[in-house]
Amino acid sequence: MPIVRMADSVVAGHTAAAVDDVADEVALGPVTDLARRKRHVVAIGGLELLVIFHRKRFTVVTNRCPHRGGRLDTGHIRWRTLTCPQHAYRYSLVDGRSVAAPGCAAGRGGRLTMIPTRVVDGFLYASLDRYRLAD
Ligand code: FES
Repeated sequence: MPIVRMADSVVAGHTAAAVDDVADEVALGPVTDLARRKRHVVAIGGLELLVIFHRKRFTVVTNRCPHRGGRLDTGHIRWRTLTCPQHAYRYSLVDGRSVAAPGCAAGRGGRLTMIPTRVVDGFLYASLDRYRLAD
């Protein structure tokens, strides 16, 4: 059965009909609000997603660094890359690859978990069908 739900922190007001149109996806919030915030953590059934609006594009990743699991939401964003605040590994916001790390060749920091998204009726949706979400 497809998982269809609103993110825990989404502002109320989006219609159930619109949610039904995008089965297997989760509404993360209105694009205008998410774009204004630049970055925002959305909690969905125990899963934390980091929503980033940078250079007029949304990127959604799980809020855990692939290196050692540090939170990414306070990382530095520059030139379509995100630097983890824990050990400064840097990741591409285009494909999630590790692009550099101090004393470590690119690629050894793992890869961000990129979440596919799309915009429907002014809301940003994340495709989470591969995740089992807690109720
Ligand atoms: S936990 Fe992110 S670089 Fe180590």
